[in-house]
Amino acid sequence: MTAVLETDHAQQASTGRMVALQNVELSFGDKRVLDGVSLDVHQQERLVVIGQSGAGKTTILRLILGILKPNAGSVFFKQNEVSRMNDHQLESVRSRIGMVYQDAALLSSMTVRENLALPLQELTNKTPAEIDRIVDEKLEMVELAGEDKTMPFELSGGMRKRVGLARALVMEPELVLFDEPTQGLDPVIGALIDELIINLTSRTKTTSIIVTHLMDSAFHVATRLAMLYRGQIVEQGTPDEFKRSTNPVVIQFLRGTTEGPMLNRSKYHMLSPAD
Ligand SMILES: Nc1ncnc2c1ncn2[C@@H]1O[C@H](COP(=O)(O)OP(=O)(O)O)[C@@H](O)[C@H]1O
Ligand SMILES: [Mg+2]
Repeated sequence: MTAVLETDHAQQASTGRMVALQNVELSFGDKRVLDGVSLDVHQQERLVVIGQSGAGKTTILRLILGILKPNAGSVFFKQNEVSRMNDHQLESVRSRIGMVYQDAALLSSMTVRENLALPLQELTNKTPAEIDRIVDEKLEMVELAGEDKTMPFELSGGMRKRVGLARALVMEPELVLFDEPTQGLDPVIGALIDELIINLTSRTKTTSIIVTHLMDSAFHVATRLAMLYRGQIVEQGTPDEFKRSTNPVVIQFLRGTTEGPMLNRSKYHMLSPAD
């Protein structure tokens, strides 16, 4: 009986895993940014990775997309080891992952509709009519129906983020990565973006990884949190578990005070006086 249960559990664990980082090390020159990061992301969770500016959060997203290769350790998307893939294999993995960039990264010479249609035109065989329908549906989802002919420069910061979000969804990805989705927005628009992230990912049963250094947003959106500090995941758990953490680094970051271990000088670039 026990053996059966264990097998079930093991199978669940392997099919339920969306992303895994295993002992990942990454340096830029002699600067060690990730120093043995291990992290599992399960299907349908919203994992929020928190950490100081320069801690390596964006770097983790780039490793998952295979844009960066680790110096040691492995990165998996489902059963695929991204860190060992060639460019052709990576293309197929990337078409299943949506990325919402920090600055939205819209093409400035194209309308909102053209920006959203581009991945569908380049990566699928869908007809123009099908593409139009998908674009309309995604714009509706982010409450921007009617803005399809707008140029990116005409959009407010919050609208740009929503277009970036809609574009990440056009390929109906299994996983969406968000890089600082609410940074630079006023608190009300930031909360609106958080709500959209929660609603859209739960409605479409999409897994998401959100990196941010904004605590209100992190606690609002997360089903689980992980904190990156000095190249390692120093704490992970549910929002409630995080609030009860006794780790001094976590306590300091959550409180946002200068009291604690965080401002101590170290060999890590992110804490060097040059920053
Ligand atoms: N391509 C790169 N070349 C050199 N250093 C980089 C590169 N990308 C990031 N870094 C450095 O790695 C550290 C982590 O960067 P990043 O992942 O962007 O941090 P975060 O997103 O947490 O603010 C920073 O010190 C940054 O300057
Ligand atoms: Mg970043």
